[in-house]
Amino acid sequence: MNIDALATTARAMVAPGKGILAADESTGTIKKRFDSIDAESTEETRRAYRELLFTTEGAPKYVSGVILFDETLRQQASDGRPFPKVLADSGIIPGIKVDMGAKDLAGFPGEKVTDGLDGLRGRLAEYYDLGARFAKWRAVITIGDGIPTRTCIESNAHALARYAALCQESGLVPIVEPEVLMDGGHTIERCEEVTLATLERVYSELHGHRVVLEGTLLKPNMVLSGKDCPTQAGVGEVAAATLRCFLRVVPAAVPGIVFLSGGQTPEQATERLNAMNAMGDYPWELSFSYGRALQAPVLEAWRGSDANVGAAKRAYHHRAKLNGAARYGNYSREMEKVSV
Ligand code: 13P
Repeated sequence: MNIDALATTARAMVAPGKGILAADESTGTIKKRFDSIDAESTEETRRAYRELLFTTEGAPKYVSGVILFDETLRQQASDGRPFPKVLADSGIIPGIKVDMGAKDLAGFPGEKVTDGLDGLRGRLAEYYDLGARFAKWRAVITIGDGIPTRTCIESNAHALARYAALCQESGLVPIVEPEVLMDGGHTIERCEEVTLATLERVYSELHGHRVVLEGTLLKPNMVLSGKDCPTQAGVGEVAAATLRCFLRVVPAAVPGIVFLSGGQTPEQATERLNAMNAMGDYPWELSFSYGRALQAPVLEAWRGSDANVGAAKRAYHHRAKLNGAARYGNYSREMEKVSV
């Protein structure tokens, strides 16, 4: 294992002013996104949509890495170059989602555990050969009546650590993603408590599995009020609660925290990241690894039509630029108004 190479890649993924595009929707998930804009989901439309994202001029100024799905890693741009090469040629690091999805945890109604460890070592070796330099594994923790249970948190943390250790062995930087869902009527205090307990367990397992933290990134939820909670915490409260939680539990050796958007609107995701970066200096970079919060305006502009590719690229560039500004605490709502 070359720790220096892993640490160099991890730091490049959270370079100043840059963050990650999560474009790793599984075939089922991207179909849902396409359904929402009345676009058909075929291998070719998925390829064309990803090509527009990966060939947007100027985006590499704000985007350090892109997370791909297995199908996309094997596809090519119209000029015949494989997508990992298209990205690498523009200075973007290609990554790959390697988990096989969150499945029902047997015996624990309402809770999930993530599949995908079987055969993972072999898949990682192939992904490295195809050009991937980092990987992602998402664990899902649900807040509800009597949940999450300790068993659910422990099972997911254990799987994340086994995945992370295998990634490092294969020369891939593991993005460790324990997502505490925002679904539900819980308070922000409850979200903070569950996020803290989850991260505490995740770092204990990573340590136990000899994962070198300098060669990892954390992809967490922000600490938020549940979606259906009658009192919604404001941007300042979200930023303060999130930072308090992470300062207590995320080791300083971790180079960066790259938030998921998790159902926040694009504006909320940018504004909250901005607020955290405006609040001060921290041991880790605070960045983004957004899926929906980067792509929602792009899909809306594209709507499956070749005629809209230019507008879709402009929408992506604009959103990436705003999140780039949020990396420095320089974003303001005024900047949303700039027409694209
Ligand atoms: P969202 O930003 O849409 O939550 O997606 C990020 C991601 O990669 C989820 O695994």
